[in-house]
Amino acid sequence: MKKTIKSLRTMKAKGEKISALTAYEALFAGYLDECDIDFILVGDSAGMVFAGHETTVPVTMDEMVYHTRSVRRSVKNTLLVADMPFMSYQTSVEDALRNAGRLLKEGGAEAVKMEGGKRIIDRVEACVSAGIPVMGHLGMTPQSVNQFGGFKTQGKKSNEAENLKNDALALEKAGVFGIVLEKIPAELGKEISEVLEIPTIGIGAGLQTDGQILVTQDMLGMFEKFKPKFVRLYAQLAGEIKEAIADYSKDVKNSTFPNKDESF
Ligand code: KIV
Repeated sequence: MKKTIKSLRTMKAKGEKISALTAYEALFAGYLDECDIDFILVGDSAGMVFAGHETTVPVTMDEMVYHTRSVRRSVKNTLLVADMPFMSYQTSVEDALRNAGRLLKEGGAEAVKMEGGKRIIDRVEACVSAGIPVMGHLGMTPQSVNQFGGFKTQGKKSNEAENLKNDALALEKAGVFGIVLEKIPAELGKEISEVLEIPTIGIGAGLQTDGQILVTQDMLGMFEKFKPKFVRLYAQLAGEIKEAIADYSKDVKNSTFPNKDESF
């Protein structure tokens, strides 16, 4: 059955957990679509995982449109959410509307995600009233890495935790259909999830959020630059991939590839 933003709300109401993963291109997106994932995020983590940047800051709108279109071609049943990259919505309501519109019209996304709380409320409201579903993202919001001084856990101090709760309530009031909570104490993840009617999706926010999201290449053990504590490895593909590549290279150099069956 086709998943929509309403499905996520219903799942929270029924106490069913929501599973989400990221995709940047058609091949992986097709795997996720076949595997009963509830939503796929075309994350701006593409900038780090796919393009090799140190942060998500350099990611552009054109790149996000390209990734979203590629993912769209393989996704039939799963809800498709795309990230608004840094400086595509921070600048003005007009920019937010135009760029969110591009992700829906050119990329084929069904919803967009923006990082931040009270400081972006006018942009969230404008998109929601234009018919563009918006997902929020609070806590360790990677686009603010330079402000945080690194990918550090947020909401550890009581005033920070209070601000995050108020941000979550403000986003809910502005009409977001869900909020990603990243790298915050598990207790805070639980408290925010309990006060909101909309679903929360955790990534390093403990077990009590309404759902979980991970970067696909992290949980498959493909991204080797660093492994955040909140990632569980469901496979160790980097090793297997490198072994296969080395075997191929050896076969070519030994003149054992191609053989007769692989020739015309
Ligand atoms: O960009 C991304 O992949 C994300 C998820 C990690 C939540 O925002």
